[in-house]
Order: sequence, then C-alpha cells, then structure tokens
Amino acid sequence: MGTTRCDCKQLSFLGLRSYARRHGITDIEELIRRTGCCTGCGTCRQHLEEFLRTGEVRYGDQAIKLPDLPG
Ligand code: FES
Repeated sequence: MGTTRCDCKQLSFLGLRSYARRHGITDIEELIRRTGCCTGCGTCRQHLEEFLRTGEVRYGDQAIKLPDLPG
C-alpha cells in the first residue's frame, strides 16, 4: 500500500515537496521539524522519503510519478 499524504497532519506529499523547494530544505529532519509531518503514527515517513528522493509513490509493485504543483 502506498500513500500520497501524511494523514495524521493532513499534509500532502506534493505540498511538502513544494514547501521544501521554496525554503531550500534538503534534509527530511528539517522538513519534519518545520511542518510537523511524520510526527503522528510515523507510517508515512518511508513513503515521503521515497517520494522526495524519486518523485514517485508506490502502490504495491507499481511506481507512480506525481506531477509538480503549478506555480
Ligand atoms: S500518516 Fe504521517 S504521521 Fe501518521
């Protein structure tokens, strides 16, 4: 099972990537500190890390590339 958001904190991976780019954040620990993502159940973290590294999320054995947000 894959995911495209941190459900605990109601933050989408696309929004988190956009935030990281806007603020020059390259370290996931800093992204977590600043946004609070991944600080609930923690199950999204591995999916977020993969998404930030590859631009893709996985559903089973399928990798899906998410588009950039406009603007
Ligand atoms: S889904 Fe992100 S911390 Fe629970």
